[in-house]
Amino acid sequence: MKVGIDKLHFATSHLYVDMAELATARQAEPDKYLIGIGQSKMAVIPPSQDAVTLAANAAAPMLTATDIAAIDLLVVGTESGIDNSKASAIYVAKLLGLSQRVRTIEMKEACYAATAGVQLAQDHVRVHPDKKALVIGSDVARYGLNTPGEPTQGGGAVAMLISADPKVLALGTESSLLSEDVMDFWRPLYHTEALVDGKYSSNIYIDYFQDVFKNYLQTTQTSPDTLTALVFHLPYTKMGLKALRSVLPLVDAEKQAQWLTHFEHARQLNRQVGNLYTGSLYLSLLSQLLTDPQLQPGNRLGLFSYGSGAEGEFYTGVIQPDYQAGLDHGLPQRLARRRRVSVAEYEALFSHQLQWRADDQSVSYADDPHRFVLTGQKDEQRQYLDQQV
Ligand code: HMG
Repeated sequence: MKVGIDKLHFATSHLYVDMAELATARQAEPDKYLIGIGQSKMAVIPPSQDAVTLAANAAAPMLTATDIAAIDLLVVGTESGIDNSKASAIYVAKLLGLSQRVRTIEMKEACYAATAGVQLAQDHVRVHPDKKALVIGSDVARYGLNTPGEPTQGGGAVAMLISADPKVLALGTESSLLSEDVMDFWRPLYHTEALVDGKYSSNIYIDYFQDVFKNYLQTTQTSPDTLTALVFHLPYTKMGLKALRSVLPLVDAEKQAQWLTHFEHARQLNRQVGNLYTGSLYLSLLSQLLTDPQLQPGNRLGLFSYGSGAEGEFYTGVIQPDYQAGLDHGLPQRLARRRRVSVAEYEALFSHQLQWRADDQSVSYADDPHRFVLTGQKDEQRQYLDQQV
């Protein structure tokens, strides 16, 4: 039985900052951000969006009534949680109108958590093939103004419906995993921005990729030539390129050129959004499938998921005959229609998030066109609104 990704949809904010303009404001060469980091635009997440609203905005447009009736597992992978006890998935399930007969959980392991959700979901569907699982990676990537990590911020959510006989990608059951205690990136409970050892984290990422990729090839007796393209977690798009380059010696010159060409499509949409932590690998998968004219049904893609701290996993999936039918075709146009904000406006939005305090607070959402918005906090409870009701 084939099990995998049946539908794949993305949501981010309607605002972005131009990376050349941000570089100039930070006394950096624009090419450092555009080429050295590999980012053109960075999503600016306004105070009216958080991990819950981004997740609901990503999933709602792709779900039919039939899907909703079949979903009995909802996993939200996030490291931008809004409560230390209650799962963001509970709020998301309510906003989406899911049945109350749903297993609803939040998962955490930095950027890796959505992959843990996908693997849990595929095991679940293999046992219950008449059911569907909804897995969402949703985050706001924050390092702070004027920090080295600043040009690698961003945010958004990717929603994936996991089912039997999937339209998009049939997932393999084999994978290669690695996890150990590494202090490359973390966020103590009292911090709203991540702490990171940037260069170290980039080195660990490559070490993990090489380890799980080679281990996968060896343990599953897979030739790298059978992989049409490699898709990466992209904290910034140059990171994936560096990892890809590190394994090019394993294949001949023709295959190297193919992998490099495919990679340009895989990073096209991420280049316009920035890091979105848990959703980043799956936005890259969406980018690959939406923008790469050389792909065909039957092609096998390798997927590398990395979460700092650290955990890595490599697995593969095969593109299905009707894969275009499960994709978010409106995404490139939505990204093109976003409003560019100045660096000053981005800084103001960055600093005016809902505060981690007990008092009642309100958030301006008048300019937010998304269906689900955060309107504030009342009696220590976050207030969400469906603007279509
Ligand atoms: P930095 O120190 O500002 O940048 O930090 P740099 O000096 O290393 O320069 C970056 C690149 O730009 C270099 O290229 C320069 O040569 C180049 P590289 O040597 O790396 O190939 N450059 C130029 N290129 C063209 N024209 C120019 C020019 N000038 C310089 N004029 C860093 C960069 C990524 C470290 C920083 O932004 C950072 O700390 N980011 C956050 C950490 C991060 O993203 N780590 C990635 C791996 S960890 C991960 O993926 C997990 C994560 O997503 C979190 C999670 O799991 O939850 C982060």
